[in-house]
Amino acid sequence: MMRLVILISGTGRNLQAIIEAVEDSRLRAEIAAVICNNPAAPGLQLAERAGIPTQVVDHRAYPSRDTFEAALREHIDSCSPDLVVLAGFMRILGSGFVQHYRGRLLNIHPSLLPRYPGLDTHGRALANGERWHGASVHYVTEDVDGGPVILQGRTAIQPGDTPEKLAERVLREVEVKIYPRALAWAAEGRLGMQGSQVVLDGRILEQPEQLEQLT
Ligand code: GRF
Repeated sequence: MMRLVILISGTGRNLQAIIEAVEDSRLRAEIAAVICNNPAAPGLQLAERAGIPTQVVDHRAYPSRDTFEAALREHIDSCSPDLVVLAGFMRILGSGFVQHYRGRLLNIHPSLLPRYPGLDTHGRALANGERWHGASVHYVTEDVDGGPVILQGRTAIQPGDTPEKLAERVLREVEVKIYPRALAWAAEGRLGMQGSQVVLDGRILEQPEQLEQLT
């Protein structure tokens, strides 16, 4: 059974979606631990309610990013994960950390990468008059939000959308669907990373898979 360690910082909507996918057998995996850098994160209650071991590693308790990431790695590696899943984790991870987990570190980003890496993706997409917006599940590399994209989903931007309304729709219509689906591919042994490209069912993905095109 594939073992996951999930890193969160806040609400945990993506965490909850993954928990539910495990509970109803859409995702054959074991969540070995939820690790959080924010002791007040609501997502910690979601993990505890699901009976998942939790660990707070508060970045403010460490003198540097390196010592914080060394503590993170110690807790993560003690769980022997097959995959490390960033789910609303809001700290930038250094190259040593990323190299250590290369090929088994995933993230979800609320935009149609490579468009809108970084923060405030919804506000920027609206300001640019985009027709479509969405979210991407990708492998994490040293290039922040620049790793190879596995699966995307999109939603049409609507008149009257605000960043908050758009963010909620992207979370509800896209994020909570694409993360469990991409993780299920990994759990079924279908997903990998070769060099800086995604491999799915033995073939290099030239373009990310699109949720709306999946059966
Ligand atoms: C989500 O928009 C996710 O894409 C981003 O953080 C936001 C909050 O995620 N990485 P969650 O509710 O904590 O899962």
